[in-house]
Amino acid sequence: MNVTTLRKDFPILNRPEPPVYLDSACTTLKPQPVLDALMKYYTEFSACAGRSAHALGTQVSMAIDEARARVAGFIGATDAGQVVFTKNATEGLNLVAAGFPFEKGDRVLLGQFEHNSNLVPWHRCQERLGRNDGLRMLEPIPMNSAGEVDMDGYIKALENGIRMVAFSGTSNLTGVTQPIKKMARIAHEYDTLVLLDGAQYVPHHQVDVKELEVDLMAFSGHKLLGPTGIGVLWGQPEVLEQMEPLVAGGGSIRTSGFSGHELLEPPERFEGGTQNHAGILGLRAALDYLEAVGMDNIQEHETKLNRILTEGTAGRAGLKILGPKDHEKRGAIFNFAMDGFDHHDMALALEAKSNIMVRSGHHCQHTWFHENNIPGSTRASVYLYNSEEEMRLLVDTLENISKNLPKK
Ligand code: ALA
Repeated sequence: MNVTTLRKDFPILNRPEPPVYLDSACTTLKPQPVLDALMKYYTEFSACAGRSAHALGTQVSMAIDEARARVAGFIGATDAGQVVFTKNATEGLNLVAAGFPFEKGDRVLLGQFEHNSNLVPWHRCQERLGRNDGLRMLEPIPMNSAGEVDMDGYIKALENGIRMVAFSGTSNLTGVTQPIKKMARIAHEYDTLVLLDGAQYVPHHQVDVKELEVDLMAFSGHKLLGPTGIGVLWGQPEVLEQMEPLVAGGGSIRTSGFSGHELLEPPERFEGGTQNHAGILGLRAALDYLEAVGMDNIQEHETKLNRILTEGTAGRAGLKILGPKDHEKRGAIFNFAMDGFDHHDMALALEAKSNIMVRSGHHCQHTWFHENNIPGSTRASVYLYNSEEEMRLLVDTLENISKNLPKK
C-alpha cells in the first residue's frame, strides 16, 4: 500500500495546502472514483430504478442490483436480498428499534458506552412500549474503564432473558473493537438476537457476517469513502421478514387499494420512495476502492500510524489517552484530553498552527463523559490516506501547544 500514490486519488488532498485530515471517524474524504460514480449516474442514466421499463430505467435498475450484490459480497452475506439500503447506520439502527416486533416485557442489552445513534432509538422504543411494570427495558453491557466488554458481566446480563443485544463493534470514542463473534455466539446460547453497529467497524476490517455470527448489522457509506446519505442494514432473512418498514411508499408494496396495501418482501419492503441511486453507486465505487487497497493493509497502516502517535506522546505530562494504553487495541482512534486545555481550544490550536483537523467535544457519546467526569476530549482518527509525516506533525504540534500556549 503506497500512501503517496493513493493520496493523489483524493481531490481535497491535492490542494496547494492540503489539510491534515484526522477526522475520518466522523466522515471520510472521497476518492475520485466515488465522485465519478456519482457524476456518471447524473450525467448518463439518471432515471428511476425498479419502476420504468425504458432503456435508462433498465440501466439504473441493473446497476442498483449489481451494487446490492457487491455490498453483499463485501460483507460476506450469502444473498443480495439481505442488504437493505438506508440513509446511514443511524437509520438502520432506528429501523430495527422501531420495526422489530418487540413486545412489552422484552429486554434489550446495549453497550454501556454507545454513541447516540445506538442509544436514542432504543429510548424511543422503550417509550413506545410504555414500560410500566417497574422493570427497565434497556440494560447496559458492563465495560471496564478502557471501554472493553466485561465478559462475565455480559453473560450475567444475558441470563436475565434478553430479546436483543445491540452494540458497536468498534467504539468511536476509544477505538476498541469488541470480541464480536464471541459475544454473538454466547448471546445465541441464550436465544438472544445480535445487532451489530458496524459504523466504525466495517470501514476498518475485513468483514464476513457469517463468520461474525451476528443477526443484523448496520453501517454508513460515508465513513468508508462513500457519499453521505447512503448506508446499509444487513440482516438474516428470518429476522428481516419479521420487521416493519420505517418508511413506506412506492417501491415497498406489492399492491394497494384505498383501504390497504400488501408489503413486499425484504429488502424492497424497507425501501419506500425513490432511493439514493447516485449514493448507492458511489458506495459501490467506494467498496471497490477499499477492496483494491485491501482491508488488511488498511488496518495494518492505521496501527502503524496510531503507534507513532502513542509512542510520540508517551510520558507527556497531563496527556490522558481515552481507552487502552496499547495502541493496537485502539485501531484508528487517538482520543485524548490534556490537563489545563479545553478540548475545543486544543482542536482550534491544532488547526491554527498546523492545519490539522480533528474533532472535539463528546463525539455523540455523552454517557462516557458523564460517568468519567471529563468535560470532553480531542480526537484524531486516521484512515488509509494519512501519512506517517502527518502523525509526526501532530506529535510535534501537541508538544508545541503544551509548552507555549497558556493553560486555562
Ligand atoms: N459520527 C460520530 C463520530 O464522529 C459518531 O464519532
